[in-house]
Amino acid sequence: MKKFLGLLFAVGTLTLLSACATSTDKTSSSSATNNTSANNDDKLAQIKEAGVLVMGTSPDFPPFEFPDANGDVVGIDVDIANAVAEELGVELKVMQLSFDNLLPSLQAGKIDVALAGVSATEERQKSADFSTPYFTPTQKIVIQKANADTYTSVDSLDGKKVGAQKGSIQEGVAESQLPKASLVSIPSNATMLIQLKSGGLDAMVMEGAVAENYVAQNADLVVADIDLTSADDESYAVALPKNSGDLKTEIDKVIEQLIADKKIDEFVTKNTELSDQSAD
Ligand code: ARG
Repeated sequence: MKKFLGLLFAVGTLTLLSACATSTDKTSSSSATNNTSANNDDKLAQIKEAGVLVMGTSPDFPPFEFPDANGDVVGIDVDIANAVAEELGVELKVMQLSFDNLLPSLQAGKIDVALAGVSATEERQKSADFSTPYFTPTQKIVIQKANADTYTSVDSLDGKKVGAQKGSIQEGVAESQLPKASLVSIPSNATMLIQLKSGGLDAMVMEGAVAENYVAQNADLVVADIDLTSADDESYAVALPKNSGDLKTEIDKVIEQLIADKKIDEFVTKNTELSDQSAD
């Protein structure tokens, strides 16, 4: 039953993602403006003027972002964005995009911020600003429980199909740490999950908290006993348009306060419970 519901959860996520494909351009009423110019100094003023903060996210990443029982996007990142919106005195609007479209949408001015467990890598810092980091992930491999005794080392995955989310740092983790595996890039984690469960993939690379979450909801999956290493620049941060000036200052202030008040830890606990319920 749990297996079936886990799948249902995944399919629900898929439906949401495809539904959003047709509704991504509802920016007219929002503050997101074209920011092809390098100077986004007035970004904060624009958001306040519009009264709306537009957050882009890819809700296939529980407990950071996922659909709740009503199909609304909730999660740690939504809680953080709500704290930011509250501080700015504006309303939060969540726009659902595929992960690989988040940074391009930020650059195109379709969204004001991207909160999606986005790792503030050196490479990405060339095209976006990032807030103070708020969470440090680990890298894990998820496999079918039936294969737990087969996939026990990096070498055991040689020639096997290993999934990673398109545009995510997991593509790089797979390429550099599982060099003899065959990498399959998949836009949505929900699709990747279905493929792993059905045997279309042998393994998938995911971040620890998300891997644990999916495994808790899918009794047929386990986190493999294979160690992967992390780079220094994988921590999650809010992505902002380049040169966001005052907006970055305000967001950093909120995040530092949330960390100091142990609020992020609370968000993690609350949303981990919530995502288990959504899947039950
Ligand atoms: N931290 C990884 C990255 O930035 C994966 C993030 C995936 N997030 C998501 N909402 N699917 O590449």
